[in-house]
Amino acid sequence: MSDKEVLALIADPLEEEAESSLRPASLDEFVGQPELREHLDIVLEAARARGEPVGHLLLSGPPGLGKTTMAHVVAREMGGALRQTSGPALERAGDLAAILTNLEDAGVLFIDEIHRLPRTVEEVLYPAMEDYQLDLVIGKGPSAHTIRLDLPRFTLIGATTRAGLITGPLRSRFELLERLDYYPVEDLEQIIRRSARILGVAIDEDGGREIARRSRGTPRIANRLLRRVRDFAQVRAEGVIDGHVAERALAVFKIDERGLDKVDGAILQSLVVSFGGGPVGLSTLSVAVGEEPDTLEDVYEPYLMQLGFIRRTPRGRVATAAAFRHLGLSQPDARLFGA
Ligand SMILES: Nc1ncnc2c1ncn2[C@@H]1O[C@H](COP(=O)(O)OP(=O)(O)O)[C@@H](O)[C@H]1O
Ligand SMILES: [Mg+2]
Repeated sequence: MSDKEVLALIADPLEEEAESSLRPASLDEFVGQPELREHLDIVLEAARARGEPVGHLLLSGPPGLGKTTMAHVVAREMGGALRQTSGPALERAGDLAAILTNLEDAGVLFIDEIHRLPRTVEEVLYPAMEDYQLDLVIGKGPSAHTIRLDLPRFTLIGATTRAGLITGPLRSRFELLERLDYYPVEDLEQIIRRSARILGVAIDEDGGREIARRSRGTPRIANRLLRRVRDFAQVRAEGVIDGHVAERALAVFKIDERGLDKVDGAILQSLVVSFGGGPVGLSTLSVAVGEEPDTLEDVYEPYLMQLGFIRRTPRGRVATAAAFRHLGLSQPDARLFGA
């Protein structure tokens, strides 16, 4: 994968389209994340029984794990309309006020990348979340005054890749704080089987497992690799995806055994080889691999940490013995690196 393609994993308009056809529409179709599903199952049923909207929900976790999908599922399960926007898209308090006053009763407002909401906009959310109230300032200067407007009862769903950047006041107004984790291989296999069915692709168990193993624990990547392997199978292997076909296809697309791509490889190489295992500061590392620090932190590091290849320490990033082994190198002193 090229760096561009990897970045496209986060946001790609064409992929959006391909994705929406594969997106689970109900809680039952949502695979994995048993804890999250159980929590939502309970609050959805309780809210429905009381005839009230669900409490505000904050979903956090790396890109591609199902935050947007879950927001749609909640809206659908509640039978309310979903209005979608994002932190950076809301520049002024008035932008948010306009959206809030136009919400349907029992509707869902989904704010993606909510950690990037400007502070002045965020403050509009506080009374809206707490009391379904909007404070509007009318006029300017000494004659300015505030009026309170009633808003429809709505549910705010916020999504973020950076839970740590959510301010205290905002965080405390969410009723449910849920973290999505990387999916185990079995869950990804199930997602791939489901997607293959929808796409009308023939795939056997080995084929599904091979793709699942290299999907970085991420449904979006599983679906994307499936589409790639399908293309390969179509032109080189009579359309059927078995283990062998999947392996050949993924080798062509340079996805390694653990699902690591070129950027992951560059991060490990530079940590291990150029910096002798670390510790290395985030900004130094990001210059070395030519990626934005944010991208490293949000997209690459979480998975490398999950694999136990790198650790964050107060002095910087450190490569573990497992990372040295993955590169086929022996480590100078394994104890130093906590392996
Ligand atoms: N739990 C899941 N079960 C099945 N498919 C999923 C699941 N989570 C995500 N997906 C698939 O992965 C794609 C990306 O998920 P998305 O909700 O856009 O991730 P996020 O918003 O966290 O970046 C979706 O289009 C969907 O097809
Ligand atoms: Mg999303």
